[in-house]
Amino acid sequence: MEPCMPIDTKGRPIILIGLMGSGKTTIGKELSKMTGMPLIDMDSIIEEQIGKKISDIFRDEGEGHFRALETALLRYIEDDTIVSGKGAVIISTGGGVVLKAINREILHRMGFVVWFNVDVPTLLERTSRSQNRPLLQSPDRFDILTRLHRERTPLYAEAAHLRLDSSNISIQDTVPLIHEAALKFFA
Ligand code: S3P
Repeated sequence: MEPCMPIDTKGRPIILIGLMGSGKTTIGKELSKMTGMPLIDMDSIIEEQIGKKISDIFRDEGEGHFRALETALLRYIEDDTIVSGKGAVIISTGGGVVLKAINREILHRMGFVVWFNVDVPTLLERTSRSQNRPLLQSPDRFDILTRLHRERTPLYAEAAHLRLDSSNISIQDTVPLIHEAALKFFA
């Protein structure tokens, strides 16, 4: 499909944040097709760099190590895109990227940050078959997602420029909403 919705982001990224199962990767792919902007998936880059699945990094090195890798990658992306001027990309983040204040700062200043706020039952359904999410490898996924939703909502709110309550919005309808908001943001 030819891109039909180009956006002049002035060399800056569109960044997608939200809990596991909120649609960052799926919507990121669609937005990438429609705008012609390349998609960067932070979790995939970390897996490639380390040569291990996220779940294995959590198991072998611990969550703290994974969080340090996330921050290092964000710093690298920010420096690299500023220097190269090639920052017109879509960045799909891991759900916990907002946990550190420094990450929230970097995200907010680097580009246009879109937060997919999705209700817990929808998150539960969308993550039900996931095997590669270490934080959800437990029978009480509903309780875990409820807690993460409560704890992280203020953190997503701090990092984001746009909150989309997207539990009941289709991908087809979400992409134009982001497109319109991004045009205004970068105008
Ligand atoms: C995490 C979310 C995951 C991944 C890791 C930790 C989290 O990414 O980064 O398992 O803390 O919410 P997705 O949001 O893409 O599943």
